[in-house]
Amino acid sequence: MNVLILGSGGREHVFASKISQSEKCKNLYVAPGNAGTGLCATNVALSPLDFEAIKTFCLDKQIDLILPGNEDPLVAGIVDFVKNDSQINHIHIVGPYKNGAIIEGSKDFSKAFMKKYQIPTAAYLTVTNQNMEEGIAFLRTMSSPYVLKADGLAAGKGVLIEFDIEKAISALKDILGGKFGDAGNKVVIEEFLDGIELSSFVLTDGHSYKILPEAKDYKRIGEGDKGLNTGGMGAVSPVPFANKAFMEKVEKQVIIPTIEGFKSENIDYRGFVFIGLMNVGGEPKVIEYNCRMGDPETEVVIHRLHNDFLELLLSVSNQALNTVELQVSEEVAATVFMVSGGYPEVFEKGFEIKNLDKVTDSMVYHAGTKQEGDNVLTNGGRVLALTSTALTMQEAITKSMKAAEIIDYQNKYYRKDIGDDLRKYNEQI
Ligand code: AMP
Ligand code: GLY
Repeated sequence: MNVLILGSGGREHVFASKISQSEKCKNLYVAPGNAGTGLCATNVALSPLDFEAIKTFCLDKQIDLILPGNEDPLVAGIVDFVKNDSQINHIHIVGPYKNGAIIEGSKDFSKAFMKKYQIPTAAYLTVTNQNMEEGIAFLRTMSSPYVLKADGLAAGKGVLIEFDIEKAISALKDILGGKFGDAGNKVVIEEFLDGIELSSFVLTDGHSYKILPEAKDYKRIGEGDKGLNTGGMGAVSPVPFANKAFMEKVEKQVIIPTIEGFKSENIDYRGFVFIGLMNVGGEPKVIEYNCRMGDPETEVVIHRLHNDFLELLLSVSNQALNTVELQVSEEVAATVFMVSGGYPEVFEKGFEIKNLDKVTDSMVYHAGTKQEGDNVLTNGGRVLALTSTALTMQEAITKSMKAAEIIDYQNKYYRKDIGDDLRKYNEQI
């Protein structure tokens, strides 16, 4: 089979690496890819949002399966585009149609969906310019901190948490006034959930589902979870506090009603569902849905899968997921993200990355990198995800930290406390 992956991050490097190991895979392309995907696939200079160019490429290279990595093409309707075009509708594509991707594309939609199907989540009110006064009154009934979310996609920046009521009110006015463009035409005001977060992943073919290993992501730039939000600074899987009892609640209260809700709404969902959860005193509450895998969670979750990944994706498209048995490594996986100094604010790129070949105990997944001649250069904020596995979390983390010491480039930075907060949950680590 010929496969096209859309995207250029660590997640897409994991996908490429896994698919390239499948006996079913003949030619593998990544658009636009990075220096890492260039090692196991052919990079092609195509934008994941240029659907016409993707169509031409698919016809030219006889592509059999497309895997979009991030949400943008899904929310923009790439599945609808492929399936409504008689020249390319034979191509398998893993991901939801627009009417499923909206679980990520609109927070208002996802909150209404959760309410309708009684999926536990924070209390909320959706506000527009028409009912701003009601929104302000709702904020005044709540206690600090105040959570405000732009309805649409805002490149991970659309969630604001304010401690002061007056600041919350002015933030509401700013978002409705266009701070995040059209993404902020509606704002979801939400109850603050006090707990510990984890990411749960489900693969569904629209009929049946499989629960993938859960993961914990480290979002803040600074150690001790301080500073600005990033795309993710590291992740571990499994998560020690996600014990059997908790995960049973997640399945019963969240996953089953979500999949059943899709069916009731006639949403033909064939792809990944990423459920951002808060564990509030042992009870799961949904923070958000995403219509794709997480990054850096993929670097630990999919890394732990032993299945033929291409066969798994095909079974989703063919609605035969019930015939597949997931094979998950018993080992713990940890990933540490090396980033460019200054990220997530201003940073420089184009620095040569040295000693990549000296890392032997970890898998180096590339994100913001590019190949230039014989050199690999930094090419983004998040540069490399260093994934290691071991029998204990601490061992896995130690291996990744060693790799992060070995690899070198100007202004390198990584968090040295990945997993530290989880030690108290498990004496064995
Ligand atoms: P998002 O950009 O949607 O991933 O949200 C960013 C972060 O905001 C989440 O990862 C949570 O840490 C936090 N967050 C979102 N909603 C809530 C909430 N209702 N209560 C507490 N924290 C929240
Ligand atoms: N790790 C969070 C995300 O992929 O959205």
